Amino acid sequence: MTTHKIAVIAGDGIGKEVVPAAIECLERIAGIHSLSLEFTYFGWGSDYYSRHGRMMPLDGLEQLALHDAIFLGAVGSPDVPDAESLWGLLIPIRREFRQYINLRPVKTLDGVRSPLASTEPIDILIVRENNEGEYSEVGGRVYRGLPHEAAVQETIFTRLGVSRAAHFAASLAATRKGRLTSATKSNGIIHTMPFWDEVVEETTRLYPGVTLTSELVDALAAHLVLKPWTLDVIVASNLLGDILSDLGSSVTGSIGVAPSANLNPEGDYPSLFEPVHGSAPDIAGKGLANPVGQMWSGAMMLDHLGFPVAARHLQEAFESALREGLGTRDVGGPSSTSEFTAAVLAAIDAIELPAEADLLISGMPSAPAAAAAPS
Ligand code: NAI
Ligand code: MG
Repeated sequence: MTTHKIAVIAGDGIGKEVVPAAIECLERIAGIHSLSLEFTYFGWGSDYYSRHGRMMPLDGLEQLALHDAIFLGAVGSPDVPDAESLWGLLIPIRREFRQYINLRPVKTLDGVRSPLASTEPIDILIVRENNEGEYSEVGGRVYRGLPHEAAVQETIFTRLGVSRAAHFAASLAATRKGRLTSATKSNGIIHTMPFWDEVVEETTRLYPGVTLTSELVDALAAHLVLKPWTLDVIVASNLLGDILSDLGSSVTGSIGVAPSANLNPEGDYPSLFEPVHGSAPDIAGKGLANPVGQMWSGAMMLDHLGFPVAARHLQEAFESALREGLGTRDVGGPSSTSEFTAAVLAAIDAIELPAEADLLISGMPSAPAAAAAPS
């Protein structure tokens, strides 16, 4: 049996609550499906920062590179500037490990109340470009403290970066309803965004079964609220994808259920799996955190490691606990984090899965889709 080595960074705030909850479920699933998962815990994050002045050790990336996947909770603390926590840990991992795809499923689940009046099911995959775009280090500040102080921040789009995100999104759309929506703002941002549009359009032409619609992001935000069920796959730049995925998860009910995968599709480096939400200092330590986003990210990790049946089993289990009305407070349920986790563990034991599982159940692309992206 091959052992899969998983680096675990619970991080800060509710990361320390939802990660152990999800790992308990992953271990139960691993036992049932005879998987060998080896978890190694790294106590990096804001506490580490307060002791060492950095979010992770100097050789942190080298240590992580020895693993098959990374399972992360959240980083961010009121005591550490957010730019330090993000640029000291998560962004270096995403960039150095070329995790250029951030895949974020947005899906209605039974037992999770949507704030929308409509009960039409929503099932969207957001493909966020994860390595470049608006989150760039190019820029600076001049004349600090003077009346004419100025700040400049450059957006970087490369043909390689945009086309590989578009390839990934179009190949996913080809396995679904064939509808790809590209988030743009080329009316206001006149250099980078028309370039984004051109490259996405050229790339999508290679997928004859896929229809591309380019939507201005302000209109797309309204679309996500008014008729989200008409959307299939969205491809978006780093910033726009970040914003749209928080909006999408809120439209389906709660940011607490939203999962994500930071993928290096070529498999040259470990990919990272984390919920969309942050460390939620407002509810940390109170047992209120919803662990579904972390558990669902765990299911995506199982899929990525080549265990689609186990992934489906975990997904079925938390969906069944939600369906029974046992969710946490943010989804209108009565449970604490640990009560909900106990319900999921019971569901894992109770569920009998059919032998043939649907390979796309957790929203992860199958291997051929991932391989379609150019290197
Ligand atoms: P947040 O996602 O932590 O919280 C936003 C709101 O959603 C809060 O009211 C929170 O209580 C609620 N919420 C979030 N996750 C929940 C869950 N699992 N269950 C129930 N309720 C949940 O975003 P916020 O407040 O903007 O950021 C807090 C910190 O997290 C900041 O330091 C920020 O930089 C960091 N952050 C880190 C991320 C990461 O590690 N990937 C992503 C986003 C924010
Ligand atoms: Mg975000």
